Amino acid sequence: MNITNAENDISEILFTEEQIKKRVAELGVILSEEYKDSCPVVACVLKGASVFYADLVREMKGHVLFDFISVSSYGLKTTSSGVINLRKDFDNDIKDKDLLIVEDIVDSGFTLKYLKNLLYARKAKSVKTIAFLNKFECHAPELDTDYYGFKIPNEFVVGYGLDYAGYYRNLPYIGVLKRSVYEN
Ligand code: IMP
Ligand code: MG
Repeated sequence: MNITNAENDISEILFTEEQIKKRVAELGVILSEEYKDSCPVVACVLKGASVFYADLVREMKGHVLFDFISVSSYGLKTTSSGVINLRKDFDNDIKDKDLLIVEDIVDSGFTLKYLKNLLYARKAKSVKTIAFLNKFECHAPELDTDYYGFKIPNEFVVGYGLDYAGYYRNLPYIGVLKRSVYEN
């Protein structure tokens, strides 16, 4: 791991603060319409989705209930193990609720699949997913998210909540991490 200065470790900025703000506002309009007749439990998948979540819920009109869950992460690796563990459960009772799961990125799609199955097993009324980023080349169409902010190619990105080994989450933009940071 060769972390230097956060800005130095980025090879390319994919989405600027301004682009992100505009897109999140658009998603807020869509979700406000989708949930105009209900009060969904909007669940943030910690920690990656926290920044997106905070922006997104403020663009949603009407009532929402907050929830925060945590699933096993990549740790020091940059590819998914495929084994998902729930480390912090939902606080809300899920039965008969409309659920919106908020993720930072859909990659293999295993995390969202795991969470959807869990929520249907708990008899949620509906389950929808939104990911800020969509690595569309990395999962089968049936594992895709219901809503997303931007499609990206299969590169490791950080910022706007996304990390590598816990770092870079506070960058206000989405950037591609230089391979030299995680490859030797
Ligand atoms: P999936 O289960 O493979 O879809 O992985 C989803 C999780 O992998 C996300 O919540 C992220 O924590 C992590 N992840 C996948 N790709 C990236 C990336 O490019 N940067 C940072 N985290 C990533
Ligand atoms: Mg995550």
